[in-house]
Amino acid sequence: ERGGYAHFMLKEIMEQPDVWGDCLLGRIHEDQVVPKEIGLTPELLTRVKRIQIVAAGTAYHAGLIGKSLIERLARVPVNVDVASEFRYAHPILDKDTMVIAISQSGETADTLACLRMAREQGVFTYSITNTVGSTVARESDAVAYTLAGPEIAVASTKAYTTQILVLTLLALALAQVHGNPRPDLVRRMLQLPLLGHKVLDRMNQGIESMAQRLAKTHDVFYIGRGLDYALAMEGQLKIKEISYLHAEAYAAGELKHGTLALIEEGTPVVAIVTEREVADKTVSNILEVKARGAEVWGIVDDWLPSTLPIDHRIAVPIEEPLLAPVLAAIPLQLLAYYTAVARGHDVDQPRNLAKSVTVE
Ligand code: F6R
Repeated sequence: ERGGYAHFMLKEIMEQPDVWGDCLLGRIHEDQVVPKEIGLTPELLTRVKRIQIVAAGTAYHAGLIGKSLIERLARVPVNVDVASEFRYAHPILDKDTMVIAISQSGETADTLACLRMAREQGVFTYSITNTVGSTVARESDAVAYTLAGPEIAVASTKAYTTQILVLTLLALALAQVHGNPRPDLVRRMLQLPLLGHKVLDRMNQGIESMAQRLAKTHDVFYIGRGLDYALAMEGQLKIKEISYLHAEAYAAGELKHGTLALIEEGTPVVAIVTEREVADKTVSNILEVKARGAEVWGIVDDWLPSTLPIDHRIAVPIEEPLLAPVLAAIPLQLLAYYTAVARGHDVDQPRNLAKSVTVE
């Protein structure tokens, strides 16, 4: 069942490149995203003036990546909210807004409640889910499936990266109808499975021992900017839920506004640097934490100089920063996985957690 792997989580991490291929199959034609293959039409896409994303946990973190990509590529404004907050926040929705529910299971109670609320107000609803025939899928006006196959481990991995891929396709489809097509990016998406395999091949070297070191610590900070900040949020959730280490994600530029006071000799910091536009800014934040004694695990673009004072360097071949999140997610997942293994935990069934949260 686990295909020779020690845990479902590891199997699901390792199968990501192939699953990405399945997710992209047929959805791209002649350097264009095919809207109907993600459940939409050019007319619908043109009508969208604003997007509201609702989701929980890991799916919320995928939503944050989606926001950044949609706003940058298509210039359509996007809000992202945690479903349990949104449903009670007296949200303002209008007819030009598209509400997107992201849910692996398609059964998360809060996410479903947001969807129903939007429909009652006559707002167009779109869901991104892994589960065919799920309640979220059935109750939405349009659906895109992530096609990741069954995800058994409680900690979400391949569902997360395929949610990001669907959101990237959506961003590119919106960009097409808004007069900003990016055939170059569409074409590059097709190389992601290959790059994913390359990342996995590399990760076998060293990440396990880096995780063994992390397993001996108590509080971990994850920092990044832009897409890397959204990834940092997912990285810290992943490590919390299976290794039970206390972890927190910060926008790297926020450190100075309080959190830097917590950095002392040996404090672990995981820094993510794939956003080239702001790489030098994050690098100065790394130097700041290093100056206060932090031990730094860096998940960085190959392109970043190896002379930087990063204690544990995990280099990822990022050829296109906008497509980096799915690639950089892999070392974050593996770091969490091996840390949990080193701490002797039941990786697939972490304490207190359920795979699908169908009650509020
Ligand atoms: C984390 C995790 C949870 C889920 C969240 C939403 O690894 O699995 O945070 O992402 O409960 O679940 P879905 O996507 O099924 O709505």
